[in-house]
Amino acid sequence: MKQSDSLRYRELPLRGGAGTMPALGFGTLIPDATETRNATRTALEAGFRHFDCAERYRNEEQVGEAIREALQAGSLTRDDLFITTKLWNNNHRPERVQPAFEASCDRLQLDCIDLYLIHTPYAFRPGDNQDPRDQNDNVIYDEGTTLMDTWRAMENLVDSGKCKAIGLSDVSLDQLRTIFEPARIKPAVIQVESHPYLPQTEILEFCNSNGLVTLAFAPLGHGIKPGVMEDPVIVAIAQRVDKTPAQVLLAWAVQRGTAVLTTPKTPDRSKENLDISALPADAMDEINAIQTRQRFNLVTGTGIPGFIAKGS
Ligand SMILES: NC(=O)c1ccc[n+]([C@@H]2O[C@H](COP(=O)([O-])OP(=O)(O)OC[C@H]3O[C@@H](n4cnc5c(N)ncnc54)[C@H](OP(=O)(O)O)[C@@H]3O)[C@@H](O)[C@H]2O)c1
Repeated sequence: MKQSDSLRYRELPLRGGAGTMPALGFGTLIPDATETRNATRTALEAGFRHFDCAERYRNEEQVGEAIREALQAGSLTRDDLFITTKLWNNNHRPERVQPAFEASCDRLQLDCIDLYLIHTPYAFRPGDNQDPRDQNDNVIYDEGTTLMDTWRAMENLVDSGKCKAIGLSDVSLDQLRTIFEPARIKPAVIQVESHPYLPQTEILEFCNSNGLVTLAFAPLGHGIKPGVMEDPVIVAIAQRVDKTPAQVLLAWAVQRGTAVLTTPKTPDRSKENLDISALPADAMDEINAIQTRQRFNLVTGTGIPGFIAKGS
């Protein structure tokens, strides 16, 4: 295979001179702390250089330990890595943004974050409880804080120099527009669920025309079966090009111009998910023609995370 066919090394430029982001990233939404540390170590050894974290995942310390070990071993420098983390819903009040950011930096043992995202557009009751509920078990929202209020505090983090770029996650195109137009510092990255059953074409077109990166999560449909990995079009293409369905889905995502997150937990899966190469044009066309539509993560409707146990 020619190096030019490999999508594994693709870098996407970020708005505002904030450098580039490796298109293929490792997601750290792993519930178990030991598994997080081991999977992050394995991902670093296999060659992942882009890591997607979040205070809500409650494992930034374990990710930070794996990163510190790799930096101390001397084979990598901080500049080789692209680290994202995210502000959770209970910290949307402007005065809570900088403390939440600094707490994430401390847990990750980093002085500077490459990308900080507002994890969802929903403000929850401010406080230390990430999952505030009333007596009927309904989430308590904070009606007093708009997304723009939170965005202004995010802009201040870029001014401080401790955060190179900022962005949004789990937003609709309308929500993105309400921030994009008035923003002094425009979002550089939009993270949304995306795979052939939810191609997010409108968001991708808006991002492409305005120089934003679309970052796809759940590219394998969160592994829910039956799902995108079992789709007959994907399975047939995988056989034709001698790749696995996971590799075909990750390649499609990068080749169409998005960045993408994947969460391999073993050395073999890490190597497999990095080993992606360009698909033939007819394969891209066939995937783009898939008509099935399915959203696997309902976080966009409520701000309640789909894959984190309630009450934790
Ligand atoms: N912004 C948000 O609201 C949001 C929401 C969700 C996720 N995220 C981010 O996106 C990242 C990626 O999400 P995700 O991991 O759920 O997406 P995903 O890659 O669609 O799904 C992961 C699932 O795919 C399986 N898998 C991984 N590699 C495979 C392979 N080569 N062959 C077969 N199965 C494979 C895993 O199996 P095993 O369990 O067996 O390893 C797991 O069940 C997360 O870690 C997180 O950083 C963001």
